[in-house]
Amino acid sequence: MSNEKAGQDAGWSVYLGDAIDAYPQWPAPAAIISDGAYGVGGFPGDPRTPQGLADWYEPHVESWAKHARASSTLWFWNTEVGWATVHPVLDRHGWEYVQTIVWDKGIAHIAGNVNGETIRRFPVVTEVCAFYRRRLEFPTADGVMPAKEWLRYEWQRAGLRLQTANEACGVANAATRKYLTQDWLWYFPPPEMMQRLVAYANEHGRPGGAPYYSLDGKTPVTADEWASLRDDWSHAHGVTNVWSAPPLNGGERYKGNGVRSAPRVHRPGRNAAVHLNQKPLEFMRRIISASTQPGDVVWEPFGELCSAAVAAVELGRHAYGAELVEHFAELAIERLQSASSRSVPDSTA
Ligand SMILES: C[S@@+](CC[C@H](N)C(=O)[O-])C[C@H]1O[C@@H](n2cnc3c(N)ncnc32)[C@H](O)[C@@H]1O
Repeated sequence: MSNEKAGQDAGWSVYLGDAIDAYPQWPAPAAIISDGAYGVGGFPGDPRTPQGLADWYEPHVESWAKHARASSTLWFWNTEVGWATVHPVLDRHGWEYVQTIVWDKGIAHIAGNVNGETIRRFPVVTEVCAFYRRRLEFPTADGVMPAKEWLRYEWQRAGLRLQTANEACGVANAATRKYLTQDWLWYFPPPEMMQRLVAYANEHGRPGGAPYYSLDGKTPVTADEWASLRDDWSHAHGVTNVWSAPPLNGGERYKGNGVRSAPRVHRPGRNAAVHLNQKPLEFMRRIISASTQPGDVVWEPFGELCSAAVAAVELGRHAYGAELVEHFAELAIERLQSASSRSVPDSTA
């Protein structure tokens, strides 16, 4: 197998090699789903302790930031301490923390998982997936500002009274209450409302300061440009940030098409579990349905069996995965070939 592409016509590709080399070749992602090193010696190259994780992830995080769009999201799977260790790296590269999803694997996960240290604490049955988006910031003469500050700053720079924003938007008080407020009730203005604010400011604002609400300093932002700055979100009713499912050991646990089972390539350290870290497809489907649209691009840099890419293809997205170990890449390709044949439209989109 060359380290180029496979299944591109079917909307997916698996890169055999270091994901770092693949990023520049992949189209910009709507979502990146990362499930790499855990700091448990779980695969060759996985640091044996969480302390090594910041250095391990740094080049990836930097490259994700470089190749992402303003609207790209990042879903970072890890242990609690692993994520905490990498969070400053993510933050430094412009990834803004949104929330953490907790995978509750349930009581069955405890069995046999005890040593002299772990017996003196509550049994750990969780992993986390931290959700990030790109930090949205706007340069101004008074410094770089987040969107909430910038919206009000530009309105006032135009010399307009706050209340006139309601007139601009054709609403009783929603514009001041939601879009120009500086408190926690702030909302990102929808594109049609932003268009009204922008048009009003540029028509009625002090002529000397125009353009107002400009991304390039030359022309005011358009509704489409404004929409493109925001990540997609469609929330399935009743789903919280705690997701319960046992670790995979049944039908979904992939062993290939009956040919051979996946090799146990890792060298378990003190805390390492002797199993592959395959994620439930249902979790990957949730992430992809919530944060992307059909036809969007999903990256899975640390593929193994490429669960995120499989879910993406099933849901009509374009999936780009990478995997260092040839045998895993082959199994991932098998899974993706079968996923392409059952690709379905996303009912939540
Ligand atoms: C935790 S597993 C991913 C499991 C996957 N989410 C699934 O559900 O099938 C991490 C995988 O990343 C691979 N890997 C580690 N570093 C990599 C890199 N720089 N580029 C590509 N793959 C890498 C490892 O070989 C390992 O198979």
